[in-house]
Amino acid sequence: MSKLWGGRFTKETNKLVEEFTASIPFDQKLAKEDIAGSLAHVQMLGECGIIPMEDAEKIKQGLHSIKEMIDRNEVEFLIEDEDIHMNIEKLLIEKIGPTGGKLHTGRSRNDQVATDMHLYLRTKTTDLIKLVEDVQKALIQQAKEHIDTLIPGYTHLQRAQPVSFAHHLMAYFWMFERDKERLIDSLKRINWLPLGSGALAGTTFPINRDRVAELLGFETIYPNSMDAVSDRDFILEFLSIGSIIMTHISRLSEELVLWSSQEFQFIELDDSFCTGSSIMPQKKNPDVPELLRGKTGRTYGNLIGLLTVLKGLPLAYNKDLQEDKEGMFDTAETLEGSLKLLAPMIKSMTVNKDVMRKAINHDFSNATDIADYLVTKGLPFREAHEVIGKIVLYAIQSNKFLLNLKLEEYQQFSSLFGEDIYEVLAPEHVVSVRNSFGGTSPEQVSEQIKLAEEKLNK
Ligand code: ARG
Repeated sequence: MSKLWGGRFTKETNKLVEEFTASIPFDQKLAKEDIAGSLAHVQMLGECGIIPMEDAEKIKQGLHSIKEMIDRNEVEFLIEDEDIHMNIEKLLIEKIGPTGGKLHTGRSRNDQVATDMHLYLRTKTTDLIKLVEDVQKALIQQAKEHIDTLIPGYTHLQRAQPVSFAHHLMAYFWMFERDKERLIDSLKRINWLPLGSGALAGTTFPINRDRVAELLGFETIYPNSMDAVSDRDFILEFLSIGSIIMTHISRLSEELVLWSSQEFQFIELDDSFCTGSSIMPQKKNPDVPELLRGKTGRTYGNLIGLLTVLKGLPLAYNKDLQEDKEGMFDTAETLEGSLKLLAPMIKSMTVNKDVMRKAINHDFSNATDIADYLVTKGLPFREAHEVIGKIVLYAIQSNKFLLNLKLEEYQQFSSLFGEDIYEVLAPEHVVSVRNSFGGTSPEQVSEQIKLAEEKLNK
């Protein structure tokens, strides 16, 4: 059979053009969505009397058996049939005869492909919400074990104040919570139906778009056919949300890489999530978090790629839009793969509490608390800050930490110091007094985890 659009042409398509313009090598991933859209469309055509109901039934049966053939891997998609839409239509006509040619009544590939993309992203987004939740659950599981585990908290990657390790992990929980909200919110716009817009201007047939929307589970119908066939904002949004998710994954991965290094030794990743070196037998490399960090790059690329395709594109459909697919598939698959690995990797990591605790005894991260101590004894904060600066300098010069200084040494700097300073300086105390809402005290962190679990169970 020749091309479905071959009537107007007098020459065969140049082979290179065929290869260059075909999307079938990648858009065959939309086979399921394409068939689902066609099933709804043809059902509506039959119900509206646009084609006889028995023809609609015949076409539906044909589409079902094509779907089964595809599932069984029995279909060979052809470059000369350009894309998934024409490959399937051609298979249908081969299967049930000329009646198959009635499927495309009142429809164009332009509204068809847009519908496929909406359907694809609806499924992927729904799946991804679940996968983000799995990561959140893993974070909560580790956090619950480590409410009382202390770790240096950093600003500028310099030790700042000690925090609960659970608090640190839960910071990521909330990043993923916002990601989840973004995904859920995007479903509103994914659930706009383009089908029924024709090539760009609508159709002469008395179609029922509401019925198609109902059959396919869409909430809204695009009110403008030109917008419907050329809109890719919902994909931009997906790529943007995906990039933000990967940013979060990348930041966490960077911490896992740092923490598992010889220099930190705060955690150990499970052997099953690491790989070795082909030359240095002693090595255990954190390849998984490194690769997660690295894969973030391609998701940014996919976003910038599509933004660039859309910029300056006149209405309505242009072939440029075919470039929307590979990036979308790639980001969806990258996210899926990444989230699936991240959850079990977090769950299975070993936390070296003692190393973390020792780190805290060897820094000045309790210095703020001496300042607060002097303030409660009546000294203005600015003056207290000055006094502590001098004490820290003195300690560094005498090779000691704040807990090792004797009371007499403290009193050289201010007569306000008493024995109770040692209690104030104990890291457990430093953490437990940061009891403001959202702070790192065990009490607040427990509340935070409770709130997080409530969110998850909603
Ligand atoms: N393969 C095309 C795409 O992905 C389908 C739409 C083709 N429409 C057209 N008028 N050539 O964009």
